[in-house]
Amino acid sequence: MSDLQLRILSKLGELGELPSTREQFPDVDPQVVLSALNSLKAHGKLEYTKQDTVYYSLTTEGETIVAEGSHEVKLLQLVSRFGKLQIKDVAAQLGPNGKVGQARAFKNGWLEKTQDNELIVSSKVGDAAAVVDETREQLLRVVKNETSGLGDKLLNDLKKRKLILPKKETTFHVVKGADFSTELTKLETDITSDMVLTGAYKDLKFKPYNFNSQGLPSQSGALHPLSKIREEFRQIFFGMGFTEMPSNQYVETGFWNFDTLFVPQQHPARDLQDTFYLKDPIQSDLPEDKEYIANIKAVHEEGKYDSIGYRYNWNEEESQKLVLRTHTTAISAAMLHKLAEDPKPTRLFSIDRVFRNEAVDATHLAEFHQVEGVLADYNITLGDLIQFMEDFFAKMGVTGLRFKPTYNPYTEPSMEIYSWHKGLQKWVEIGNSGLFRPEMLEPMGLPKDLRVLGWGLSLERPTMIKYGVKNIRELLGHKVSLDFIASNPAARLDEELYN
Ligand SMILES: *[C@@H]1O[C@H](CO)[C@@H](O)[C@H](O)[C@H]1NC(C)=O
Ligand SMILES: *[C@@H]1O[C@H](CO)[C@@H](O)[C@H](O)[C@H]1NC(C)=O
Repeated sequence: MSDLQLRILSKLGELGELPSTREQFPDVDPQVVLSALNSLKAHGKLEYTKQDTVYYSLTTEGETIVAEGSHEVKLLQLVSRFGKLQIKDVAAQLGPNGKVGQARAFKNGWLEKTQDNELIVSSKVGDAAAVVDETREQLLRVVKNETSGLGDKLLNDLKKRKLILPKKETTFHVVKGADFSTELTKLETDITSDMVLTGAYKDLKFKPYNFNSQGLPSQSGALHPLSKIREEFRQIFFGMGFTEMPSNQYVETGFWNFDTLFVPQQHPARDLQDTFYLKDPIQSDLPEDKEYIANIKAVHEEGKYDSIGYRYNWNEEESQKLVLRTHTTAISAAMLHKLAEDPKPTRLFSIDRVFRNEAVDATHLAEFHQVEGVLADYNITLGDLIQFMEDFFAKMGVTGLRFKPTYNPYTEPSMEIYSWHKGLQKWVEIGNSGLFRPEMLEPMGLPKDLRVLGWGLSLERPTMIKYGVKNIRELLGHKVSLDFIASNPAARLDEELYN
């Protein structure tokens, strides 16, 4: 039992009743008093009623008026002393309060304005020195707590003029309860099997349940923002007739990650500095399709399908090396290779993790997520790609795209996609796209007129914009705060995403 509880009981014992806890315990916070009273009430020691009183204190301006007089009276006396005063000089004489003083003096009919924009004392005012300063009188009554006679309207007016501030004071009226005593025995909180067996429960006192107390916040799971945005992208893809690719493998051979995509073996993207290679096992087998491998070798070495190739010796061992996939396009390549068995228009997508050997900073991680779409159809053109990109991004609320030619090893033509960012006031890149090269598709055995367009973007970028995350390390990795995940709202891909 707290010291305060004992003090309350002993005062109550001594006085029989406490009309105001505030008078008895002026230094104790009313919230603390309340919690002590509640606890004692639960023991039946006392009953209490709460009493709130509102009183007013003066603001600094109110205090100045009490000390020096109101602005309007000061102005009246000034004008009366000089005989007249130019309106433009009021501020110089009375400072920022001059305006208020002038308005109130006019309202009271104390001052008049001449044709020369001068203030003069109204003829209605007899002796300017004898005018009653009502504002000051009212504030003096506030100081003496005699506000009941002032009326609510006037108090509200003084409040609006920022001369007084309402304050609330809480006190409790306490009387003895049915079980009053100055001592307190501890109440039992739980009935135990021992109490039942020995019969002790009959003589014990139990603490009543508090049905008003609130429960602890529940520790339920929550979706990570990336998962939420990912789900929104999935729904857009599904809504446009796409099927999700099985992308659940992080390790690929160089063959699927690079060679099938017509990335030459000396390409810098295949360097150790850019790609994570596996140490154990170091390599894996190539697919069964020997013709496909022979086609890849041919198209890289001397060219095929109207291409002149890269003119170097293609090394099978190099393509057997295992890497952490640098893009999900490795999966797309495998899916397109399968499509060659039964070629037909197809729409595929994947959203999954990829790995690059990058220096980690506020906007780069060594692993992130790629959103990728692949669309195969007969005789489609660059115009179809542009139209499709506009439709796709419009579903995310992003319109008015711009396209910029770029180079990718496995698409031609290739285009970066830009959108105007209202916040940054500039065009920002939101994705990359292109038509897959014949050197990638024809070795698979796909017919010449079945063309495939593809595009990709990172999942992190729109998520960071959507959730206002400035540093990517707060989104993914060991610096992510669980609070951030538990408390962020369900995402909507609305207009603000890129605009
Ligand atoms: C006015 O009332 C308040 C609240 O009851 C009190 O704290 C204050 O001391 C009172 N002032 C005077 C002058 O009685
Ligand atoms: C694609 O275009 C070529 C040339 O115009 C044409 O011969 C072929 O039939 C077209 N393919 C389809 C499926 O329409």
